[in-house]
Amino acid sequence: MSEAKPRIRVRGLTKIFGDKAGAALPLLAAGQNRAEVQKQTGAVIGLHDVSFDVGEGEILVVMGLSGSGKSTCLRCINRLIEPTSGTVFVDDTDVTALDERALMEFRRTRFGMVFQQFALFPHRTILRNVEYGLEVQGVAAEARRERALAAIETVGLKGWDQHYPSQLSGGMQQRAGLARALALNPDVLLMDEAFSALDPLIRRDMQQELVALQKRLKKTIVFVSHDLDEAIALGGRIVLMKDGRVVQEGTAADFLANPADDYVRRFVEHIDVLGVVTAGDAMRAPAAVKPWQSTAAEALASLVQTGEPVMTVVCHEGRFQGTVDADTLRRAGETELRLLLSDREACVPTSATLNETVAKLAGGRGEIAVIDAERLLRGVIANADLVAALARRRADTAH
Ligand SMILES: Nc1ncnc2c1ncn2[C@@H]1O[C@H](COP(=O)(O)OP(=O)(O)OP(=O)(O)O)[C@@H](O)[C@H]1O
Ligand SMILES: [Mg+2]
Repeated sequence: MSEAKPRIRVRGLTKIFGDKAGAALPLLAAGQNRAEVQKQTGAVIGLHDVSFDVGEGEILVVMGLSGSGKSTCLRCINRLIEPTSGTVFVDDTDVTALDERALMEFRRTRFGMVFQQFALFPHRTILRNVEYGLEVQGVAAEARRERALAAIETVGLKGWDQHYPSQLSGGMQQRAGLARALALNPDVLLMDEAFSALDPLIRRDMQQELVALQKRLKKTIVFVSHDLDEAIALGGRIVLMKDGRVVQEGTAADFLANPADDYVRRFVEHIDVLGVVTAGDAMRAPAAVKPWQSTAAEALASLVQTGEPVMTVVCHEGRFQGTVDADTLRRAGETELRLLLSDREACVPTSATLNETVAKLAGGRGEIAVIDAERLLRGVIANADLVAALARRRADTAH
């Protein structure tokens, strides 16, 4: 996440269901686990001491097995479930301190919610379903219609506004549910297993569209999912929960590289390493780099010394310019490198997955550059580095 102040700050969020909180809290504080506390006091621990931040325009995925506390966590953020203790800040507002009236107002204007069950009204058209929240807010008919139609278009349902929910497929109904939330133009979207009822292909489409939508609308999204592939597709940070607590927070690649415990390790066991590990993770410092005014003879000497397959060439500011292979250097004598450059595209961004990196390597000369958004050279990856990175991950996941 960037240094920018987070939109949502969750601190020490704890939820104990039932009326035994008084008895349960001291036991939890003393380090007893959920099962022990439940056995002794009968209290069900929904959440215990959960803290995390969500940045502006970020999709944070709350993940974990069934019963781990994901929905409880999400619902405590807008107090559909009243937390037992802890705080939730959205920007400068302490949501946990709002009185009933202020909370209603805050929920209506700042939060949007999307659930697994689309919960559309069957006897209302899609338009009237999407208008519903605006109607409750008392928005005038004309403005309501305009905003609802815009939201319907945003989710790709243009032309379906006069249809009824039963005339739409599951995926389309889910889109309508999303449009209903978006029509209210909330800053924060809370999504609970929103795509879980969809069949796999449509689900993948929806994930991609949510990411694209997010790039345009810059909402802050907390997305609950029990599915690691979904978390990876949504591309952001993950808060992994177990028994009402956060076990680990980070990207899927972080979990893979440094699993906090066996639970995390099991979660990432079947992960597609090539789709998660990035070029930035697998790269190494370049051994053979020259500025483009250097001569072919100088470059050749450096290649021979380092054993690299190609010379990586940068401009005087360190931006990647291209590569030159050994054969070309041998024939070129004192010619400057900038006249010999080939393969300006022999590079990937640090964020490229190994899948993308493999594709680039396959078409090249055995080594590619890894660059940042300014094209500055950050590292290189040769075939052997890729194999080494894969071998490392395999060893990690097999302990
Ligand atoms: N209203 C409630 N009263 C009592 N216990 C509850 C209540 N809601 C949730 N719980 C308990 O809190 C724990 C966490 O539930 P939660 O619904 O947050 O899990 P989840 O991670 O969302 O699971 P799932 O993937 O099945 O939706 C569970 O043990 C559950 O039984
Ligand atoms: Mg749930």
